[in-house]
Amino acid sequence: MKVLVATEKPFAKKAVDGIKNIFAEAGYEVVLLEKYTDKAELLAAVGDVDALIVRSDKVTKEVIDAAKQLKIVVRAGAGYDNVDLQAASANNVAVMNTPGQNSNAVAELALAMMIYMSRNQFTPGTGIELQGKTLGIHAYGNVGRLVGRKAKALGLNVIAYDPFITERVVFDNDGVEPVGSVEELYAASDFLSLHIPATEQTKKSINYKLLMSMPQGATLVNTARKEVIDEDGLKAALTERTDLKYITDIAPDATSELAELAGKRFFATPKKMGAETAEANINAGLAAARQIVGYLERGENRFQLNKKPCDCK
Ligand code: 3PG
Repeated sequence: MKVLVATEKPFAKKAVDGIKNIFAEAGYEVVLLEKYTDKAELLAAVGDVDALIVRSDKVTKEVIDAAKQLKIVVRAGAGYDNVDLQAASANNVAVMNTPGQNSNAVAELALAMMIYMSRNQFTPGTGIELQGKTLGIHAYGNVGRLVGRKAKALGLNVIAYDPFITERVVFDNDGVEPVGSVEELYAASDFLSLHIPATEQTKKSINYKLLMSMPQGATLVNTARKEVIDEDGLKAALTERTDLKYITDIAPDATSELAELAGKRFFATPKKMGAETAEANINAGLAAARQIVGYLERGENRFQLNKKPCDCK
């Protein structure tokens, strides 16, 4: 079997070594395609591989069609909006992610971002403390839960909204108060940490109305996806409300405009860095490699995202 590890944003060396070891034990060949700048390089590299590991690299229909031997794609990470699931299913390619494996790194960054904005991006001047403020967590999955637990230790009052979690005990275990609607969440949150995926339902769902309902001096923290933000609404809210702040790990399309209109109330990391820790790379990268061997050798499909038979024509 031949495996391609295609990472425009490479894994740490330790993770790459671990991935190679797992495949060496299984008798698989590994090819690395790192820091590529053109999708033509990916299209050329997938031609004869049986398995593919990616991060946020785009696995489009074109890529899947070019990969004639492909049996499995593992997105080493949580969000899989970069993989065309329908094209994969149509070609009998299994798609998996590695849920939870990089969550701690993202949760730590979300908290760091709150402190960074509370202290005026580490420039002179009086800031505020997190202790005693209310943090709203939008979606209480792997990352949201870790943010919630860590935030409790910092003295924040933590509330959360997640329409898919119906058992209150999940929140109770962390001392977190669930609220009944997204409107209620935003209206009560001095800090709001976003952890929703980018889907047809969530795209542009964080809009002007929600942002304008946030308390005086509130900060929106986005370590999720840029697509969930309605950028026109964000621009309007940051213009009208000169107390609102936005910090993001995924540069918006309107980054320069936002920087100009909001100054120190806006910050975007130059490149998505939430999962950029050695630990997260090792956890997600090795999990991806193990999942590939498990699937190809034993048919293990616990994390397969397209289990149902394809209804595509
Ligand atoms: C994820 O969905 O797992 C995170 O956004 C991390 O993405 P990355 O692997 O591109 O850093």
